[in-house]
Amino acid sequence: MKRLVTFILLFVPLFVFGGEDERIEAILSRMSFEDKVGQLNQLDGRGDIEKLKKEIRAGRLGSVMNIVDPAVLDELQRIAVEESPAGIPLLFARDVVHGFKTVLPIPLGQAASFDEELVERAARNTAAEATECGIRWAFAPMMDIARDPRWGRIAEGFGEDTYLAGRLAAAVVRGYQGESLSDPMSMAACAKHFVGYGAAEGGRDYNTTYIPERQLRDTYFPPFRAAVEAGCASVMSSFNDNDGVPATGNRWLLTDVLRGEWGFDGVVVSDWGSVAGLVPHGAAADKREAAKKCITAGTDMDMSSRSYLLNLRSLVDSGEVPMEVVDEAVRRVLRLKMRLGLFDNPYTRKAATSVLYSEPVLDDACTLAQEATVMLKNEGVLPLTGVRRILVTGPMADAPYDQLGTWTLDGDKTHTLTPITALRELCGDDVEILYEPALTHCRDNSTARFGRLRSLARKADVVLAFVGEEQIMSGEAHSLADLTLQGAQSEMLEVLADCGRPLVTVFMAGRPLIIGREAEISDALLYAWHPGTMGGKAIAEIVIGRANPSGKLPVTFPRCVGQIPMYYNHKHTSHIARGTEGNLDDIPREAVQSVMGHTSSYLDVPPTPLFPFGFGLSYTTFVLSGLELSDTEVTADGVLKVRVTVENSGKVAGTEVVQLYVGRKSASVTRPMKELKGFRRVTLAPAEKRTVEFELPVSELAFCGADMRVAVEPGAYTIMVGTDSRDGLKSRFSIVK
Ligand code: GLC
Repeated sequence: MKRLVTFILLFVPLFVFGGEDERIEAILSRMSFEDKVGQLNQLDGRGDIEKLKKEIRAGRLGSVMNIVDPAVLDELQRIAVEESPAGIPLLFARDVVHGFKTVLPIPLGQAASFDEELVERAARNTAAEATECGIRWAFAPMMDIARDPRWGRIAEGFGEDTYLAGRLAAAVVRGYQGESLSDPMSMAACAKHFVGYGAAEGGRDYNTTYIPERQLRDTYFPPFRAAVEAGCASVMSSFNDNDGVPATGNRWLLTDVLRGEWGFDGVVVSDWGSVAGLVPHGAAADKREAAKKCITAGTDMDMSSRSYLLNLRSLVDSGEVPMEVVDEAVRRVLRLKMRLGLFDNPYTRKAATSVLYSEPVLDDACTLAQEATVMLKNEGVLPLTGVRRILVTGPMADAPYDQLGTWTLDGDKTHTLTPITALRELCGDDVEILYEPALTHCRDNSTARFGRLRSLARKADVVLAFVGEEQIMSGEAHSLADLTLQGAQSEMLEVLADCGRPLVTVFMAGRPLIIGREAEISDALLYAWHPGTMGGKAIAEIVIGRANPSGKLPVTFPRCVGQIPMYYNHKHTSHIARGTEGNLDDIPREAVQSVMGHTSSYLDVPPTPLFPFGFGLSYTTFVLSGLELSDTEVTADGVLKVRVTVENSGKVAGTEVVQLYVGRKSASVTRPMKELKGFRRVTLAPAEKRTVEFELPVSELAFCGADMRVAVEPGAYTIMVGTDSRDGLKSRFSIVK
């Protein structure tokens, strides 16, 4: 009773009339040291619930992960608010990466949509589903730039391009956080993994990275800065050590850059156990030293390692860690909880009607899966019209679990609409659907059903083969050294190609695979990534022509693993490839040393990718013309307007993604040949024309120069406006002082 009276007399006025900081100080002032350290401790909620309640009751937990039952969460919250010493509400967190119950396409697939608005709307839907189940902190968006498809987590990010990743990460932040974090339907986003995690050597997850500061600032930082500028409430430090320093213990990164340069005032949470991870890294002798380094670096909350809980007392008592450092971390955690409204409404929002799997959510998920699908080849086969009998085959034709993709902890495969189900529903009695999976799953090596497959194929007018990889093959700790199709999938496609029927191959995978042969023998090729709950309907509607594909590759498709890393925005080098190299048959016997010239290329494989960044086909065609720049000279504080006319020169309506690239030949340091600096989805009816205008702030062309300052450098620049990264309409301009 005494505590309640104290609270009412001392704190109610502050809560009612005080500002955020005053309220935080008021709370902080009544917290014991143990209360404070408890706020910096996050644990997994799975396991012994009674033990968890005991920890909460003792005030030793600030956040709980991985419980998604609102009734359980409300009970834990009641204990925290009413029974713990400081009565501070818990923050419930979950990996909500691409959807919650309704699973969206993997982020790499969402990136292929180049549709910020839809990505944001789908993220808002996800927030509605997750908050209905009590989650108020999502460990997403992941925006690690990835140029190596061997790395399984390429699935979770937005691909190889800095600009695209930044735009989409900001869209997810806006979707998750809404107009206000305090909206019970909003949840805190978490920009992860800061930083450079995707540059793991060899594409092996968790491996060492060496990214020099200039490349950090030009390539890896900008998506995180975009998320911070979008108001992202938290950042997660990454597992990797970059140039010898683990990110979780890197003060330059987490304090000087993130907070000092960018003004981030949110919470930095470690990755799972990455505080204690300094010990296996060899950057700390024990958890105590790890805790000291990480709290000092600016990692506020310790996910799952208990290093802070067990060591901060002695570190502060010994003076190795100033109390102010602990207080500042606690302030950030309290500020996040306050902004989420937890001090006013700590319990799960009670939805009048459930949004889980609701029609609008499913419809948006289907549209996003459609826009994510990239058509890589079409020799006049798609859309299927006038066919009477379709053979549907392949291990991904009816794979409700694998279709969802990695990090779908709450996705329920019983809700997945698979291709075979969707095709049967869409085609009804109009078209006969023959079905023979031929392989039980993507690693199935059995060819036992290939005889039946062959006979069915010969009866069909067209064959639809769904191949790819199981969801377990991508995501965390799931790197691959061989990116060709697993099991007998390739043999299956060879059998089908040999049957003399048009072969449409649809890939569902969490990364670019090595698909040169499959592309060669298929008459049409769709890449749907792991498309999520509504993927089957999305693909089926494209195949029968009810939807026109518009996806564009957010990542380069190499011809073979030997080409990796391969990405479009590469440097010039001193020996630029001609593009015609790479055929061993061109090499004469006993050739003299310089017979093949001297270029940055291979003798045995072309220096070009199988499919380039930004590439994707449509059922119609588009023509760009009339490229115009508002100026031929601009200053660093100016805005360059770029106009281009897009025409639908085909026979059906469709959407093109017009892409704006900027490059420069000479600068104080070497620069990429071109970089994406704008994109626009344009939907046009047949014969319709539209002029698209890009407004390019010159400040967005800044880069880290020879003096290590990020600035706009005067000089000559090139502009390219195209429909993929290879070519387009070109022009020039200069930046002048
Ligand atoms: C994992 C992942 C991270 C995730 C966290 C919590 O190890 O690296 O992305 O958010 O742990 O599950």
